[in-house]
Amino acid sequence: MPKKSNFAAHIVQWQRQFGRHDLPWQNTTDAYKIWLSEIMLQQTQVATVKTYYANFLQHFPDVNALAAAPLDQVLALWAGLGYYSRARNLHHCAQTVASQWQGRFPERPEQLITLKGIGASTAAAIAVFAYGASAAILDGNVKRVLSRRFGVDAAPSAANDKWLWGIAQRELFNAADAKALDMNLAAGLKSYTQGLMDLGASLCSRSKTLCHACPLQNECAALARGLVADLPRKKAKTIVPIVHLTFFIYRHNGRLWLEPRPAAGIWAQMYAFPENAAHMHAAQPKALPAMSHKLTHRLLKIEPWLIDVSSEEALTFSKNRAGVWIASENQADFGTPKPVQDLINHLFSI
Ligand code: ADE
Repeated sequence: MPKKSNFAAHIVQWQRQFGRHDLPWQNTTDAYKIWLSEIMLQQTQVATVKTYYANFLQHFPDVNALAAAPLDQVLALWAGLGYYSRARNLHHCAQTVASQWQGRFPERPEQLITLKGIGASTAAAIAVFAYGASAAILDGNVKRVLSRRFGVDAAPSAANDKWLWGIAQRELFNAADAKALDMNLAAGLKSYTQGLMDLGASLCSRSKTLCHACPLQNECAALARGLVADLPRKKAKTIVPIVHLTFFIYRHNGRLWLEPRPAAGIWAQMYAFPENAAHMHAAQPKALPAMSHKLTHRLLKIEPWLIDVSSEEALTFSKNRAGVWIASENQADFGTPKPVQDLINHLFSI
């Protein structure tokens, strides 16, 4: 195993001068706020997260407020961010922190990782930013930076991740780096961690690389070998299965009928149109244009049908089925998946 290089020192010096210093979740040591931002940032771009983050904190200023909220409200505030299991895990995690950790997030990565929705890299990021811990992160951006700088040239696999974790741990900013740069270790660890994220999101992004401005240009293996555009290697394309869904969109007086989805499966517990026809409707269903929607592991082909129901039929929905009639005034109260929301927007606009 090679020895630690001066990678960390270069990252820290660059971050201090060129990195981001005014993101809404920086300049706080509130673990709740840092955790929330890290969960949102797991699969969503910074620009999108900013709005959701502010809105979330307004509704739930601390972990106890989030833990006490109904899941429906959390899902409604999450609607549009995608990857909804994050919202369910977020709520579960808040309840665990409130009930088992006296409302205070634990400090050590190995404790944080026991909480729902927190993996090894997120646990490390929270521990560094909130508590100044010494822990290595390895998210998608960091994998790219490390793969290029250290010439990791292998297809993604568990073994490759293990290799990258080894590099991340070996190269972590340490006491000797802090001494050489004449800085406090915790402050250096924060700059280092943020610097890796910032570099991966800017100069060392997937396709728009700016190697001439990079602090690692004289030590980067990928640059020396002309492999910047090729590393990290991509996964072989897998064919995702197609899933056919039918939406029965019941309409009455301009209102639309939504039902909570089951606790497991696609869009668990979010509000959507029923997938099975109610037996009682008299009107002829009208076919709306088919839609496609990509999820990570599925391609959904959706056939929507619009059915106008009578007042009498509408009443039987409210009486016999679990669900709600939504109008444009109350639709924001219910978290809906993207294709459902697109249909709602369309039907409320015509
Ligand atoms: N991506 C993941 N965590 C982040 C953070 N703290 N700042 C910016 N981007 C991030």
